Amino acid sequence: MDYVQLGDSDLVVSKVCMGTMTFGEQNTLEEGVEQLTRAFDEFGVNFLDTAEMYPVPTKATTQGATDKAIKMFLQSRKREDVILATKVCGRSERIKWLPRRDSETPAALTRDQILDSVDASLERLGTDYIDLLQLHWPGDFRPSQYQDNPKPTSFEEQLSALQELVTTGKVRYVGVSNESAYGVCSMAALTRQFPELYPKIVSIQNSFSLVVRKDFEAGLGEACFHHNVGLLAYSPLAAGTLSGKYRKNVPKGARLTLFPGFMERYLGSSNEEAVNAYCDLAKKADLTPTQLALGWCYHNELVASSIIGATTMDQLEENIQAYDVRLSDDVSKEIEAIYAKYTDPTKAR
Ligand SMILES: NC(=O)c1ccc[n+]([C@@H]2O[C@H](COP(=O)([O-])OP(=O)(O)OC[C@H]3O[C@@H](n4cnc5c(N)ncnc54)[C@H](OP(=O)(O)O)[C@@H]3O)[C@@H](O)[C@H]2O)c1
Repeated sequence: MDYVQLGDSDLVVSKVCMGTMTFGEQNTLEEGVEQLTRAFDEFGVNFLDTAEMYPVPTKATTQGATDKAIKMFLQSRKREDVILATKVCGRSERIKWLPRRDSETPAALTRDQILDSVDASLERLGTDYIDLLQLHWPGDFRPSQYQDNPKPTSFEEQLSALQELVTTGKVRYVGVSNESAYGVCSMAALTRQFPELYPKIVSIQNSFSLVVRKDFEAGLGEACFHHNVGLLAYSPLAAGTLSGKYRKNVPKGARLTLFPGFMERYLGSSNEEAVNAYCDLAKKADLTPTQLALGWCYHNELVASSIIGATTMDQLEENIQAYDVRLSDDVSKEIEAIYAKYTDPTKAR
């Protein structure tokens, strides 16, 4: 395993980060703890990512379950040996059941919601600090694809709430997720102008894989480079589709079979043709499709750390061991040729 300093922070994180959003839904809490234990103790991972709304698909009856698994895991070791990242999303028209927010709470990522979310997360996780708190999706922009909130919240309000959390020691560093170049640059400019009021954004957690790379490469990556914001790449297997498992049959018990409609952009779009092309290339290169997809993401110069997901120990093993795969120049060239043909396949048909 290799480690990297995340943005301008003191966090030195493993290049592979453990995603946890299946714990409490597709995986039991005990399976979650087993996965984390194996990843940390056997493979040298030191970084995990959760969110107040997990597990997914998010619903009132399970919200917060993922954090219970993480609490059990944290109890098995020294707190300082784990770099713990979580995310606040705020109450929205879609997600109305978050704790410490009642029916009067506005559907917006307000200061009060950010502060309340962290208190609830700390309680659930059984810890007194979060290493990296991320805004799960933009709160400043109403027609966001993630929420339809009537009232956008200014960057100033969000950043000053984050500063309060840093000042009180509840949060060490802050980041964003599903953010745009506009958001990264606006927040960085505010911090530069008022460093005593607003904390520096050190990371961005966005979708990034062989089939979702255009948005980041087309401008966001440049913004993150100049503002030293580390990319935490999520869904590096495109919800499992890049493993090739959906090519021939509908796989039983797999995410997109179990939860119709969830992450549906990966099915019924040109993604299926793009995946076929990458699977064929993997075969030619004597790699599994998973090794090709993760090998590309892990060692991509734009990526600080890749957040992986697994529902079985075999998957976990294959995924972390794929860290040792280095793609040859020829394979990399062929990837670029496929990319030229399928540049944004999850958005096209
Ligand atoms: N910020 C955000 O909005 C956001 C959004 C999504 C994810 N995330 C973060 O990123 C993490 C990872 O996301 P993700 O789960 O979507 O990642 P992913 O790597 O795209 O998909 C992981 C899923 O693919 C399947 N899979 C994994 N390895 C496999 C293998 N070797 N062979 C066959 N199938 C395999 C498993 O599902 P099945 O067994 O069900 O097929 C697994 O749960 C999450 O846990 C979360 O922490 C963040």
